[in-house]
Amino acid sequence: MWWKSAVVYQIYPRSFADSDGDGIGDLRGIAGRLDYLKRLGVDVLWLSPIYPSPQDDNGYDISEYQDIDPVFGSLADFDALLAGVHERGMKLVMDLVVNHTSDEHPWFLESRSSRDNPKRDWYWWRAEPNDWRSYFSGSAWEADQATHEFYLHLFSRKQPDLNWENPEVREAIYAMMRWWLDRGVDGFRMDVINLISKPPGLPDGSSEELNNCGPRIHEFLQEMHREVFAGRDAQMLTVGEMPGVTIEQARLFTDPARAEVDMVFQFEHVRLDQRDSKWDRKPLDVRELKATLNRWQTGLADLGWNSLYWNNHDQPRAVSRFGDDRPEFRVRAAKALATVLHLQRGTPYVYQGEELGMTNAPWGSIEDFRDIESLNHYAEAVAAGQDPGEVLDVLRGRSRDNARTPMQWDASANAGFTDGTPWLPVNPNHANINAAAQVDDPDSVFNHYRRLIELRHTLPVVAEGDFTPLAEDHPQIYAYVRRLGNDELRVVANLSSEPAEWEGETLAPWEARVQLPSPA
Ligand code: NOJ
Repeated sequence: MWWKSAVVYQIYPRSFADSDGDGIGDLRGIAGRLDYLKRLGVDVLWLSPIYPSPQDDNGYDISEYQDIDPVFGSLADFDALLAGVHERGMKLVMDLVVNHTSDEHPWFLESRSSRDNPKRDWYWWRAEPNDWRSYFSGSAWEADQATHEFYLHLFSRKQPDLNWENPEVREAIYAMMRWWLDRGVDGFRMDVINLISKPPGLPDGSSEELNNCGPRIHEFLQEMHREVFAGRDAQMLTVGEMPGVTIEQARLFTDPARAEVDMVFQFEHVRLDQRDSKWDRKPLDVRELKATLNRWQTGLADLGWNSLYWNNHDQPRAVSRFGDDRPEFRVRAAKALATVLHLQRGTPYVYQGEELGMTNAPWGSIEDFRDIESLNHYAEAVAAGQDPGEVLDVLRGRSRDNARTPMQWDASANAGFTDGTPWLPVNPNHANINAAAQVDDPDSVFNHYRRLIELRHTLPVVAEGDFTPLAEDHPQIYAYVRRLGNDELRVVANLSSEPAEWEGETLAPWEARVQLPSPA
């Protein structure tokens, strides 16, 4: 499959490039930066949601599936962007958010209008809520004044969950997906798609565990494949976002013979620095990180396919979180993390700014944050008696807004992101960390990513080779070998800010060494 040697680049349109000075990124802004992405060498662009939306969760609350939010542009702008992407030999993948809609979507407006509306059953209505908690704090149920029932929302109260048990819902979604494919898009990243099949009877308990891979999930994805992708899937890319998915489940989802999705985003490695909740931090143990990633490598070796990522719009910046963003280590740490990830078996995903080694931001006060998850957590934790300063400190390390500060294009006042006032402040370190300073510097993080992407394109052992872990018990060293026929590629990296010894060699802090196969 073509995506075995492809690299995907995620764009968070709000924060990528603003063409009209309103402080919010847009489609024309993206179109103006395609040559940068081509230079990096990525094959596929994934756009976080650009559909009309009240923006309660930055577009993951969609009020119209077949249009573009005016803040991002128009369908004509979209077509022009898509043409520009295709002209450069790249593909474009849309974000598919169909576990829920916005509460302002016409389907939900009808559903909530009366108990006997034909679309009542398109969502989950109950006389009494169960005890499920929303991912964004508080109950997962909202009382509705009009009809005196509660509706289910696993995310914000403005994101009611669709009822996938209803075949009309599924048909409407498949028709919408076909419409985008007919327009020319090359696939979908499927938002929390493992949550769409709810447990029968909606029993009390952990909503995350009960909704993860519910009883009809494989049936729904196979039906979607038949109804939407059949006949054209060879050129497409589909990736299911699946918090909580296990290796066993992932093998089923990505077994090509089952025709469900090409790959999934698993979450195990981004939960190693937390306890029960993402707000309860614990230090990362490099041995655990290796053990987890290596288990996914071996678990999907003979069947299915991995996606590889450190970052996305929901995760703090990797170099601050898994690396070391102090000036003396930042560049090396960003490169070492990129190296160990990109030379694994799977499809790597680069999140905007990761290729520059962008870092978490120095948040001053709670007023600086915009993300609903962060703001809800702060309100709930402080109301429950936690010290506001401590809650703020946790947000500094964990908030999704760390990923969402504007792309750092250059050293100018707003980092070249906008001529207006950015919707979220630019990170002051853009004076040093920016694209303009890196694209022509052969030693930059940018050019390191460019070379890693090139290796995947040119060396079959990177795309296809098998994977053997080394040094599994070493507390600092991440090492492995990839093999394909007589070709062997060896990766050894020191994932720490101290020198590390291994097999008679000393690696400097965050040093990564790659031994390429000898030329035939
Ligand atoms: C996962 C998305 O990545 C996240 O940004 C969003 O808040 C939730 N799903 C709800 O759509």
